[in-house]
Amino acid sequence: MPDKGGFPHFMIKEIFEQPQGMRDTIEPRLSLNEGVVRLDEIRSSPDELRALRRINILASGTSRHAYMVGQYVIQDMVNIPVDVDYASEFEYRNPLIGPGEITIVITQSGETADTTAAQREAKAKGSRTVAISNVIDSTIAREADGVLYTLAGPEISIASTKAFTAQMAVLFLFALYLGQVRGKFSREQRRLYLKDLLEIPEKLKVQLETASLCESLADRYHAFDDFLFMGRAAHYPVAMDGALKLKEVSYIHAEGYPTGETKHGPLALIDEHLPIVIIATRDQDDAGSMLRYEKTVANIKTFKEQGAHVIALTSEGDEELAKLTDAIPIPTTRELLLPILEIVPMQLFAYYMAVRRGLDVDKPRHLVKSVVVE
Ligand code: AGP
Repeated sequence: MPDKGGFPHFMIKEIFEQPQGMRDTIEPRLSLNEGVVRLDEIRSSPDELRALRRINILASGTSRHAYMVGQYVIQDMVNIPVDVDYASEFEYRNPLIGPGEITIVITQSGETADTTAAQREAKAKGSRTVAISNVIDSTIAREADGVLYTLAGPEISIASTKAFTAQMAVLFLFALYLGQVRGKFSREQRRLYLKDLLEIPEKLKVQLETASLCESLADRYHAFDDFLFMGRAAHYPVAMDGALKLKEVSYIHAEGYPTGETKHGPLALIDEHLPIVIIATRDQDDAGSMLRYEKTVANIKTFKEQGAHVIALTSEGDEELAKLTDAIPIPTTRELLLPILEIVPMQLFAYYMAVRRGLDVDKPRHLVKSVVVE
């Protein structure tokens, strides 16, 4: 019987297990010296990967948010189109997929009925399937042509945390592997990517040091009944998952929204009664990231003018946003690895909000760990 290891709940234990889960997931699959990623377990030949013309990704819930990040990562790093869909919707849209494609199926439990059904539909249409699962020999893993296990260890809490960060890391490795096989990156470029990825476990540990700040923010915001989470680009899925975490463990209504979309309606909602949690990080070596950041600062100023309380996930050293918002600092890393760090304060905030409200954090009402019915 798994125990809480001295933590009050499995959720907080699993949040704090993320550095180790990340190490266990990535380190056996790469060599920094050689600049090489090894993912033989996907069981696709180099020729198949070089001929790959599209990737489909299917999942549910938090695993879907991981694939949304993966779509940005794969398209940006390898220029292969990535089509994504809710597993529960996939079978209803006559998916036009077939041979010459890979369908990645992401699932922590490996038993989700919607995702199992979608995987079977993809196989029936001739697509190769690769499962990313956190449970060895799970149904979805067994039925896939190839498997990339996240090695985050057993995840007991209904809210998925350490599996999510491990899923994002596996998708980053997968993109790097595709680039390696397709000759997209030099050895030196691959070493730079791998060096940044290998630094993530330590940066997760630094991120966990914001736990007391997140707890104090939960104390300050615990009485609010609605939240809007926002992010741009690969950070939008992180906002989606931050909202899902808060919803499922604290029963507070929360929406995840693309930041740029708020001016098309949601802006009318924003005032002192609707707190905003916004991702406002930046990678100063990435022009696209800096453009995203500048737009986000302008958005924050608008929200503040409308009276909103703003919790901002900011890059370390961002004095301007520290003055303007309730800032939670995020360690610097490359743009496409920031999501792995950004979700941690949102996990912590959701956890402390649920504790502050006296709720059953690990077993939220009406929910189960693996949804085995469609
Ligand atoms: C995540 O916190 C939720 N518990 C839920 O959305 C979950 O991610 C979803 O049910 C998918 O589960 P799976 O990853 O095991 O397939």
